[in-house]
Amino acid sequence: MAGMTANPDQTASPKRYFVKSYGCQMNAYDGERMGELLGSSGMEAAGSVDEADLVLLNTCHIRERAVDKVYSEIGRMRREDGSSPMLAVAGCVAQAEGAEIGRRAREVDIVVGPQAYHRLPELIARAAKGERVIDTDMPLESKFDVLPKRQRQGPSAFLTVQEGCDKFCTYCVVPYTRGAEVSRPWAAVMDEARALIDAGAKEITLLGQNVNAWTGTDETGREQGLDGLIRALDRLDGLARIRYTTSHPMDMTEGLIRAHGDVEKLMPFLHLPVQSGSERILRAMNRSHDRDTYVRIIERARAVRPDIAVSGDFIVGFPGETDRDFEDSLQIIRDVDYAMAFSFKYSPRPGTPAATMGDQIADEVMTERLRLLQELLNVQQHRFNQTTLGRRIPILLERPGKKPGQKIGKSPWLQSVVVDTDLPVGALVEVDITSAGPNSLGATLAMEEAA
Ligand code: SAH
Ligand code: SF4
Ligand code: F3S
Repeated sequence: MAGMTANPDQTASPKRYFVKSYGCQMNAYDGERMGELLGSSGMEAAGSVDEADLVLLNTCHIRERAVDKVYSEIGRMRREDGSSPMLAVAGCVAQAEGAEIGRRAREVDIVVGPQAYHRLPELIARAAKGERVIDTDMPLESKFDVLPKRQRQGPSAFLTVQEGCDKFCTYCVVPYTRGAEVSRPWAAVMDEARALIDAGAKEITLLGQNVNAWTGTDETGREQGLDGLIRALDRLDGLARIRYTTSHPMDMTEGLIRAHGDVEKLMPFLHLPVQSGSERILRAMNRSHDRDTYVRIIERARAVRPDIAVSGDFIVGFPGETDRDFEDSLQIIRDVDYAMAFSFKYSPRPGTPAATMGDQIADEVMTERLRLLQELLNVQQHRFNQTTLGRRIPILLERPGKKPGQKIGKSPWLQSVVVDTDLPVGALVEVDITSAGPNSLGATLAMEEAA
């Protein structure tokens, strides 16, 4: 922990906080937990940035544009009357560029990394005395041991069970911003799951940068993997749905695949990024698996659970990617046939090996490849959505829709479904699918209680 120079703007303790999270689901989870922590230390949630006297930007460093957004957001903090809220920068940009932010952005009072945010109340107290503070430690104590109990939840909740990454894909900042792979203990996860269910959660999504690398020891002293944890969660009353993300192909055990065949609450969805279909590029990315290993995992998953929806992540324009390599990516997409997928232009990240590799690809080439790849993925996604047309399926209602009398819910395959119903958010209902667009489904209520 280090002090920066004093900020004359800050002299009072903030009372109303606003947390703005960018990036992945784990950052969303961290954002919720930071909010709960500030709430339990006597502050109140503000309705918007403008009403807050502490704004916490929970940042993402994964691609260049994510970082740019943060700096422009910092620039907008000064208000018309010349005042500015206390400003804390948290998350992966804070971890990677803490000192740099301190130098570049005078508006920032606190810089706090993803493994140190449990210290926020203390950092805020110091900032309120006019100090500028930076804490990007990766301390031995776990933030999870100090954070307050989970509070009121919507029907679908995140639960971080594993954090950090030891895989060191050559393009990726995550091993540097989140640190080494750590699994939370069995009992801590089970306790948090029970607390989430008591607080209203019907669905829990287990989170980790490599969630399927989770290992632990159950209450009888037996070694368990993620599948063991999922089986234990399956036995919790009040929980209806279990999901997990993101998985790495190398940690996709036979046990976890089998769980998809016989754990009732485990949803038929597998997000398994491959990034490229080219053997050469997979090696250059240090993905530590080849194309066929990946395809075989998908085949196994489909053998035990034929209706499983497969999702992935793709990067186009990794250094050295030729037309031929790119064609291999299109081909693996055709072979796997995805229900949905995320795809990105390669973004050189400071400090990663790929950033200094030769043969960086021109932006126009990346733009065109991304367009072609997304065109193919969109066709597949639309086709997948249409397979639900006319079927009766269970939906968890998650939030109000745009129009009165509508709710938005999720199908077992993670599709967004607009349902005509006045039933409350949190209800698990059977619906008949009446329309299937590229990005969402439409439905009418069939039964109030899903089986
Ligand atoms: N741990 C997960 C996801 C990590 S980040 C995994 O290994 O699958 C989420 C996605 O962002 C990655 O899957 C990758 O597709 C993308 N990504 C990561 N670094 C990137 C970079 N430098 N440029 C472009 N996309 C990147
Ligand atoms: Fe990044 Fe690779 Fe780790 Fe995923 S597995 S977080 S892409 S280094
Ligand atoms: Fe972004 Fe950090 Fe998540 S870089 S994607 S917020 S782990």
